Amino acid sequence: MAGKKSTIIGKAQKKIDGIELVTGRARFTADLRFPQMVYGYARRAGIPAGKIKRIDKEHALGIPGVLDVITASDLPGPNLIGILPPFDQPLLAEEEVRYAGESIALVVAETRDIAKRASLSIVAEIEPLEPVLTVDEALKPEARKIHPHGNITFSRKLIKGDVEKGFERADIVVENTYETSFQEHAYLETEAVCVVPHGDGRITVYASCQSPFHIRGHIAVNLNVPASRVKVIQAYTGGSFGGKDDVATEMGCLAAIAAIRLNRAVMIVHDREESIIGSNLRHASRIHYKTGATKEGKIIAREVKILLDGGAYASESPFVTMKTLIHAAGPYNIENVFVESTAVYTNKTYCGAFRGFGVPQVTFASESQMDELASELEMDPLELRLKNALKAGDATATGQVFRKSVGLVKTIQVIDGKRKHVQSKKLQDEERWLYGTGFSCLLQGISNGAEGIDVVGASVQVSQDGSVLVGVGLSDMGQGSRTVFAQVAAEVLGVSMERVTVKQVDTESVHDSGPTIASRSTTVGGMAVLKAAQEVKNSLVKMAALMFNTREEKVVLKDGFASLYEDDSARIPLDKVATAAYWNGFPLMNLAFSKAPDANYDHQTHQGDIYIAYNFGTHMMRIRIDRYTGKVEVLKHIAAHDLGKAINPQGVEGQVEGASLMGFGLAHLEEVLYDRGIIQNPNFADYAVPGIKERLPTETVIIEDYNPTGPFGAKGIGEPPVAGAAAAFANAVADATGIRFLRLPITREVILEALRGKQ
Ligand code: MTE
Ligand code: MOS
Repeated sequence: MAGKKSTIIGKAQKKIDGIELVTGRARFTADLRFPQMVYGYARRAGIPAGKIKRIDKEHALGIPGVLDVITASDLPGPNLIGILPPFDQPLLAEEEVRYAGESIALVVAETRDIAKRASLSIVAEIEPLEPVLTVDEALKPEARKIHPHGNITFSRKLIKGDVEKGFERADIVVENTYETSFQEHAYLETEAVCVVPHGDGRITVYASCQSPFHIRGHIAVNLNVPASRVKVIQAYTGGSFGGKDDVATEMGCLAAIAAIRLNRAVMIVHDREESIIGSNLRHASRIHYKTGATKEGKIIAREVKILLDGGAYASESPFVTMKTLIHAAGPYNIENVFVESTAVYTNKTYCGAFRGFGVPQVTFASESQMDELASELEMDPLELRLKNALKAGDATATGQVFRKSVGLVKTIQVIDGKRKHVQSKKLQDEERWLYGTGFSCLLQGISNGAEGIDVVGASVQVSQDGSVLVGVGLSDMGQGSRTVFAQVAAEVLGVSMERVTVKQVDTESVHDSGPTIASRSTTVGGMAVLKAAQEVKNSLVKMAALMFNTREEKVVLKDGFASLYEDDSARIPLDKVATAAYWNGFPLMNLAFSKAPDANYDHQTHQGDIYIAYNFGTHMMRIRIDRYTGKVEVLKHIAAHDLGKAINPQGVEGQVEGASLMGFGLAHLEEVLYDRGIIQNPNFADYAVPGIKERLPTETVIIEDYNPTGPFGAKGIGEPPVAGAAAAFANAVADATGIRFLRLPITREVILEALRGKQ
């Protein structure tokens, strides 16, 4: 176990694949080449709603180099994908088009250019329908139904205590409505899949993706073949952030169907425009908050009503709806809570998983309201948060009680301790610059918990040379989970990091572990690796004890040797032990599982034990705004998170910085703009993603409140900072300008206009 002296757990480690990634040696899907490989390119609808009357392929098929044009009627399976009910999404639109970026046909050709050109020469007669473009329109009783089951994708309520009674007792009630807009994942690498048929009914799918088993399942259904004939290999993936589930599935199914029809390898690679218009975005939202407190600042009631614009298909809207519901009350101990959250269909690009899963949206709203309440109470914003902060033993909004690892108070205290120093810096040119500081607190549930499946399988195998091979069914999309898994195995088996290899996910060689979402890899995946490694360690220890002629309790595995506790000088190299263990038939490979405890959860009221842990955090952002141009400069950003235990502190910093920057983008820069259902900025010239110049001056503060459900006490950190940074930014702008902005993004233009209006 990781004692104080561990050189692996808790020590900054280079990413095990870092060199390959930065030198470009690592092969991504689009880099792959196979003999006779051909290319697919989808024809998209181009209008947000319509009835498909006719799709004429003839002209396209006549173009030299074009091999196939596939439409819905050519598909061998049900033409349906989806994650949770309602499964409502076709691979290719059949009768009706529901968003402008929707695929209606796939062209396959010798080159990608030919396929792209040919896709435009398909004659598609689509009779336009009046598009349903906003949540309000969609909810009108007379609205046209986007799906046969109506325009509501998913709706749930959370009921804790009696919110009406709570408000009756409140001395102060604040109330407001907030909005957030659509955000694009903007990963470096666009979506890509390549399917290789083996000629015998088996296929191999290489994909830039997040959840390989999910893809495999859908391909099998849509090809009408057993899942065992489909092998999905997650190639190196240049970012996913929740964005490569549905779309990789759609592309994988289409490429697989084409590959079988032609018996050739088929590659589909999205260009940036397809990446933006064709697949899921972060849900836009409108959120009404009402908060009641005593005059001492104790919050006693919170009522939240959330509307999410989910676009044309359900995708992961059900999960996002649930997450908004569960997190809307914030990281506070509140007796009476009522939340209603509804995802609604519109004729726009569908929305789904995106780093934070709805938590950034509600956190922005909730934390804005906290500041409004603080100002009504004439109370310091951190003091108000501290007064209401969840502590060990308190009940969350779902009534779940954590006895351990509720480190929120510590994160607030750290920020409180640092703020004077930051705020005492001399202000320059105050005539021009408006200075402000914003705070936010947040929680984010780790793992799927009662929302879905929460099982991870991990294998650990020791070879005769003492090297270690780890296989987990969760994918590394850049977050560094393979490095974390390697650390856990290395620690348990007493070998150096260089001796450990972590498999690329391949559905034939790792166990189905569900989707790689909800920051669950370190916690649930790490726990599975820990267990598997311990089993293999038992074999090695047993063997070494025989070799030392001693009892097993006396043996330690350390630094690549088996040695004795009391006598470090007596030691046997691990390869000798492993070889002997092999010859004796002691198992050197183990498959272990980590499963969240059976949830006791009521999906009607959303009361009960939902997650195995929460990450808690407090952010502070110090900014200044140029009153003449609206330009914002972030002077200091501090993110303090309780993540149980930092397995790889360097990885944690990377995640905190990256996620915070995404939150900053959401809050200040990014917005997918629509005009009558057509995205107006499907490129990085017009859609502003924060670049290296906008890099935040983030200071990461790691708080370690040991979490018993994670390996060595760890909890995930991949998503939580998005919410913290976005909310702190909004509060900093309000502090600097004296104007409360109710909608994200709060761009420079928006700020300037408001400042002018104020004069
Ligand atoms: N970091 C990088 N570099 N690339 C990614 O795609 N995805 C994020 C986060 N950090 C992502 C990332 C999302 S949405 C999630 S849920 C977590 O990583 C998943 O990984 P974890 O379980 O290892 O935290
Ligand atoms: Mo992350 S949005 O949970 O994939």
